[in-house]
Amino acid sequence: MIKVLFVCLGNICRSPLAEGIFKQLVREEGLEDKIHIDSAGTSGWHIGEPPDPRTIEVAQKNGVPIEHYGKEVAPSDFEKFDYIIAMDDSNLADLERLHGRARHNKAQLFKMRDFDDIGTGGDVPDPYYGGPDGFDKVFDLLRRSSRNLLEKIKKDHNL
Ligand code: 4NP
Repeated sequence: MIKVLFVCLGNICRSPLAEGIFKQLVREEGLEDKIHIDSAGTSGWHIGEPPDPRTIEVAQKNGVPIEHYGKEVAPSDFEKFDYIIAMDDSNLADLERLHGRARHNKAQLFKMRDFDDIGTGGDVPDPYYGGPDGFDKVFDLLRRSSRNLLEKIKKDHNL
């Protein structure tokens, strides 16, 4: 099983949305038995909580099911997952610190927009303090990046 973990700060906005979008793409390609997908936050602020209502709304509006409860990323995730995908530079810096505490590093670390054709390498902006249009923008960035990420994973594993 190839394992992919999406990571943001709170695990209630960007990363559960990325998880839902990516799961749907993987299902559409019939790869759900080969690719396992999850998400987590660098903070423990929203452990056990469902996604932000605005995350659920933008997902529903776009026909993407979301089923996740908040959790915090742990050093053992670097042993468990093959790909860990940060949403922004701050998440990446936090993950690099945790990475040093893992015993066996299996995971490769990326930023989500490394896979975006437009604004490659930029951040997926944190929509938490903004209005609902921030969530629409995040949805579009995530969907574009997800398609290219899935292509990379398929290529890496001859799927
Ligand atoms: P996320 O957004 O990292 O995309 O889940 C946030 C959620 C909560 C907070 C910040 C960002 N917060 O400060 O509680």
